[in-house]
Amino acid sequence: MSPYAHITGWGMAVPKRVMTNDDLAKIVDTNDEWVRSRTGIRERHIASDEESSATLGFDASIKALQVARLKPDELDLIIVATSSPEHIFPATACIIQDRLGANKAGAFDLLAACTGFIYALNIATQSIRVGAARNALVIGAETLSRFVDWKDRNTCVLFGDGAGAFVLQAGEQEGGVLSSVMRSDGSGGDLLTLPGGGSKHPATVESVREGLHFIRMNGREVFRFATRVMAQATQDAVEKAQLKIEDIQLVIPHQANERIIETAMRNLKIPMDRCVVNLEHYGNTSTASIPIAVCEAVGDGRLKPGHRVVFVGFGAGLTWGAAVAVWNGPTDGVRVVLPYSYRLYTRLRSLARRILRRIEAFIWGRRYPSV
Ligand code: ACO
Repeated sequence: MSPYAHITGWGMAVPKRVMTNDDLAKIVDTNDEWVRSRTGIRERHIASDEESSATLGFDASIKALQVARLKPDELDLIIVATSSPEHIFPATACIIQDRLGANKAGAFDLLAACTGFIYALNIATQSIRVGAARNALVIGAETLSRFVDWKDRNTCVLFGDGAGAFVLQAGEQEGGVLSSVMRSDGSGGDLLTLPGGGSKHPATVESVREGLHFIRMNGREVFRFATRVMAQATQDAVEKAQLKIEDIQLVIPHQANERIIETAMRNLKIPMDRCVVNLEHYGNTSTASIPIAVCEAVGDGRLKPGHRVVFVGFGAGLTWGAAVAVWNGPTDGVRVVLPYSYRLYTRLRSLARRILRRIEAFIWGRRYPSV
């Protein structure tokens, strides 16, 4: 029988710097009352120059591995869902893999905008279910503040930086991620875009001048789309898991806008006390928003072992999706991951590999090694 994919570890990381709505009102024509009443957001965390999607993703991963009591070199797969990768390539997942010293893991980035974490969770689950991986790390990591036009009040008030991570492990016991649905509709791609920096609009003086490297959004249309698909995706995932909406103890939705979440819950006839909303303090952290909300729900005791939980999200693409899981908590057994000594070890290991590569290049010069 194929193994189940259990969520055995979770972790989150956010930058120290907090930007309140009042702080924003000093740089753009907005005010706390507008932002709070239209979105529910009061403040967000903004990355410093030293912080990036990889550093935040790494910090969240270390915490998730500690909860799972899993050593990085036991990982088979690392997926980073992100819309703000460090580079187009190498993948942010590979940067995190190197820093973790996860030397047996395949690593890649996944781009499905804010739905990315649901997509990545599904891919990791399927890899475990078919036996291609036993231990997987799924990360949502974002520094969208770097892609926001701080003069555009329609978008800059919405986003925040942060990262969240899950460890998934194969287990014979029934449970873990029970079902997932992934959906897309590229005909709505123009509603939410970051047009510059890809092969269509590579970086040029003109692309910078025209602001093509900033997020552009048709907020009203995205709002309409989101309220339509969140309830449907939840229903589809719940049905696929052969459950009913009444069987679900908690819904953890993508944290974009409180009004979107309330409308979706109303459509599902699920009371708000069975739904986690924490965007007040983080804004929309895109792929990181669901795992960050999970960490807080575990922390305050709302998400408990045995609970059936729905994760549901939507984003640019357009993409949307949902997953149903039985929350089973960390696995038994003591396996301590020593973060600080381990960090030093992996840095030295990475440095040694770089030096070795240079020595090899020096020895071989322009020749290739003989086969
Ligand atoms: N402060 C003050 N006024 C503002 C601001 C602001 N920050 N932003 C817009 N306004 C003004 C507008 O200019 C407009 O003024 P006007 O009537 O004089 O033209 C007025 O407020 C109303 O604007 P609307 O766009 O109608 O406001 P709405 O109630 O729709 O809220 C919002 C806008 C918050 C953006 C909402 O549409 C929304 O949340 N949409 C979904 C966005 C979203 O979730 N995006 C992320 C997707 S996930 C991903 O993939 C990244």
